[in-house]
Amino acid sequence: MRRKVIAGNWKMNMLPNEAIKFIEDLTPLVKDTKNEVILCVPYTDLFYSLLTAQNTNIKIGAQNMHFEESGAYTGEVSGKMLKSINVEYVIIGHSERRQYFNETDESVNKKIKEAFENELKPIVCVGETLEEKEAGKTVEIITKQTELALEGLTDEQVKNTIIAYEPIWAIGTGKTATSEDANNSIKEIRNKIAEIYGQEVAKSVIIQYGGSVKSSNAKELFEMSDIDGGLVGGASLKAEEFSKIVNFE
Ligand code: 13P
Repeated sequence: MRRKVIAGNWKMNMLPNEAIKFIEDLTPLVKDTKNEVILCVPYTDLFYSLLTAQNTNIKIGAQNMHFEESGAYTGEVSGKMLKSINVEYVIIGHSERRQYFNETDESVNKKIKEAFENELKPIVCVGETLEEKEAGKTVEIITKQTELALEGLTDEQVKNTIIAYEPIWAIGTGKTATSEDANNSIKEIRNKIAEIYGQEVAKSVIIQYGGSVKSSNAKELFEMSDIDGGLVGGASLKAEEFSKIVNFE
């Protein structure tokens, strides 16, 4: 049985004092869950969040990193830097980064490799646009993104990669994929992984759903056979709401 992993993606929200208060509020609300709880916070919140989350079951992640270890890349943060303060997870290839910051399948692949070099666990986002969905290209797009993202990784690394299937049309729009559609897309991603890396690897990869997840739809989504939890944007900004998603059962 795969575990359920519920991750919040705060995006460009929350000041350090708000992050500290959020984690203090969330801690008692999720302390008894058997699900894995992750908060992916802005760089400026990382250190405060890590300190506040010490001795809790809340894990901390970043939202992006560079694929080089160091160098003349003004404004960038490396995997080595994240590791140095004990960050555990990092989101790679979020659709907002692909859309606004020129993230490509190639840079996503390089970043995943660099994340593993630094013992960070990547949460890799894939997903189709509304146009692609309407053209019937969902499966083609998401399996290709998955294949290119994972290219050259070892079986062990693939097993330790979390994939988040986030249909772009469902992000921040209040529109959620139906649980059947989300489950089918995730099955296709898993089949692609099985085709390349074998059944054993495919069965152990955590694949989340993301896109307007909230407490009122989390249970229906997360109880599907292939959906192993969620990557949550807007609804991860309120501790009580987020705790209900974590404790969806
Ligand atoms: P929303 O939950 O706000 O739709 O955002 C989803 C997302 O992009 C998480 O990474």
